[in-house]
Amino acid sequence: MDKKIKFPKDFLWGSAVSSYQVEGWNDNSDWYEWEKSGRTKEKNGIACDYWNRYKEDHSIISQLGQNAFRLSLEWSKIEPEEGKFSEEAINHYREILKDLKSRGIKTAVTLWHWTLPIWLSKDGGWHNCDTVDYFVRFCERVVKDLGEDIDLFILMNEPRIPLNKGYLWGVFPPGKKNPFLYFKARKNMIRACIRSYDATKKINPDVKIGITQFTNAIYYLGSSKILKGISKIISNLYNWRFQDGIGEKQDFIGVNYYFAVETRVGYPFFKMINDNKFPTNMGWGVFPDGLREVLEDGWKRYKKPMYVFENGIAIDQDEVRAEFIKEHIKAIAQAIKNGADVRGYFYWSLMDNFEWNEGFKMKFGLVEIDRKTLERKIRPSAWEYAKICKNGEF
Ligand code: BGC
Repeated sequence: MDKKIKFPKDFLWGSAVSSYQVEGWNDNSDWYEWEKSGRTKEKNGIACDYWNRYKEDHSIISQLGQNAFRLSLEWSKIEPEEGKFSEEAINHYREILKDLKSRGIKTAVTLWHWTLPIWLSKDGGWHNCDTVDYFVRFCERVVKDLGEDIDLFILMNEPRIPLNKGYLWGVFPPGKKNPFLYFKARKNMIRACIRSYDATKKINPDVKIGITQFTNAIYYLGSSKILKGISKIISNLYNWRFQDGIGEKQDFIGVNYYFAVETRVGYPFFKMINDNKFPTNMGWGVFPDGLREVLEDGWKRYKKPMYVFENGIAIDQDEVRAEFIKEHIKAIAQAIKNGADVRGYFYWSLMDNFEWNEGFKMKFGLVEIDRKTLERKIRPSAWEYAKICKNGEF
């Protein structure tokens, strides 16, 4: 590359995890029940034992020069029974957040990364309207008890995925294939975001709140200008419908980006763009410029600060990961150059972890986890990324 790319001084450089995927000891959650019913390839169990080994993991984050970390809170640990909040769990999360703070690491905290307490899922989960009240109460509690150590509040992670997989395809809890319940759950989630925003701002008007969504760059690769135009409209609807529903009640726009998709006249209508150059563990394609496209679209639409809260690759060849990260960071630099206010990049994931239905075989991590000993081994790509984090340029 010819020229150096310099990022804003306070740009957040980090990595991300979610509670259920790394913490372990989450037997009060609907996903634990889902696993018991045999619908995942492996059981989560102790996961990566982040719950007990968080200091070691935070020290790795520091060594890697990252100035931010995205983690989530496990609702089922904090409120194991309806209305009964666990002081022990809240205190433990406080220690985790304080430990990050003491190392100068900024925190982006997701309040709902797909798992519900069992009592709530038995009550119907998101398609039950009462869940909105329960979620608002949970958020209020988190802001009051933990808010001073949280820099960015991400109310929900990628609502699209659990909605599609849980309510249309039946492969995530609650295992439904019911469009009527899908729309009900979706409406409740949007209401929950709006009401939590208001409730949280009442407690502390300064907190920064938003959500993050699973986005795809969507292209029509043929020559027809009309089909290109239609494809663009579909792309905007697909990526931003949920955030449009939340409207002004969000302070930033979170983007998770993994791959791009092409639209076709015929079946299937959507197809992942994948040249199979790098056969990834998930079978996903690699298309870095799509991240630029999504960021520029989001910026034009909302004119709010943007964060890339997830971007990653599950692959056995670690040198491909290093390249993947650099190419996506280049795409972000281009989006910034073109005017988008992007303020952070979080690689998914800090460590190999429990990939939902797929179990532990997907190697997304900057850090490898030995499944027998849980020993952490930093991969070379992590050190490559660290150079960028430390210098804010490459
Ligand atoms: C989710 C993560 C997941 C990752 C890789 C994202 O959609 O937020 O929980 O592990 O993608 O599939």
